[in-house]
Amino acid sequence: LNDRTLRPQLLADYIGQPRVKEQLGLFIDAARGRDESLDHLLVFGPPGLGKTTLAHVVANEMGTQMRSTSGPVLEKPGDLAAMLTNLEPGDVLFIDEIHRLSPQVEEILYPAMEDFQLDIVIGEGPAARSIKLDLPRFTLVAATTRAGLLTGPLRDRFGIVQRLEFYSIADLTQIVERSARLMGLEVETQGAGEIARRSRGTPRIANRLLRRVRDYAQVRADGRVDNTTAAAALDLLQVDHNGFDPLDRRLLKMIIERFDGGPVGLDSVAAALGEERGTIEDVIEPYLIQQGYIQRTPRGRMVSDLARAAVEGFDVEF
Ligand code: ADE
Repeated sequence: LNDRTLRPQLLADYIGQPRVKEQLGLFIDAARGRDESLDHLLVFGPPGLGKTTLAHVVANEMGTQMRSTSGPVLEKPGDLAAMLTNLEPGDVLFIDEIHRLSPQVEEILYPAMEDFQLDIVIGEGPAARSIKLDLPRFTLVAATTRAGLLTGPLRDRFGIVQRLEFYSIADLTQIVERSARLMGLEVETQGAGEIARRSRGTPRIANRLLRRVRDYAQVRADGRVDNTTAAAALDLLQVDHNGFDPLDRRLLKMIIERFDGGPVGLDSVAAALGEERGTIEDVIEPYLIQQGYIQRTPRGRMVSDLARAAVEGFDVEF
């Protein structure tokens, strides 16, 4: 069972994100009632919260097929033109990492989104010609980790914008229980809760940890996941009670020990950790900021007393 089969297919099976569910549900009902395609949708938020899942859900709810691609894959205008001309009426076109589209490809997207027209130049020099093609009405569902990285004109062309937030422990517990059911795995609510608490508010992490806990339960216990088994497995995985993984602890310890708790610029932290700036900003930091462990200030990152207490006693190698 991979991640895909654990994914909910319909809005009714989607756990958490109540605001997103209510709004999207309403817009989908309205579009279906008018027999129209759904307006273009931009979904943003940290990795692993269900942006791709939501795109699938939209296509399923609208009863259409989904075509998938991503910003970095669409290198040339022709790459996007090929996707667009293959669409059928009502289809969902999903573009992941939309912030990584090149300006030339973005140019093609504007008239496609706005007027369902393909405006493309073929050939070069004196032989170059501009051709216009009518496209079927489609719904663009685009995902990005940070909406701030999009150009204004692109952002403005989405009729619906939704932000995914970190999941509550209660919602993550339900997600773990649902996944366990689909995997045919016996999990006690307390065990599911233990996994949920250590999943950084993120279903993708919860599902990954669940698989590793299942391995542990199978080899070291009787196969069932209770509180004790879950805790022992997660300790083995070095995921602590705050849900910090080794990378989180390295980041926090680094700022505390090498930069005196901050403020320190992101580039200095990135260089010291040997991680990319983008990885720190998009993957590691959002949860730590949301939980109040790190603050973004004009002079750089600062750790809170909460963070100092949380990583105290942990030995971390840089
Ligand atoms: N699996 C991953 N994310 C989920 C969600 N939000 N609801 C239900 N199952 C999920």
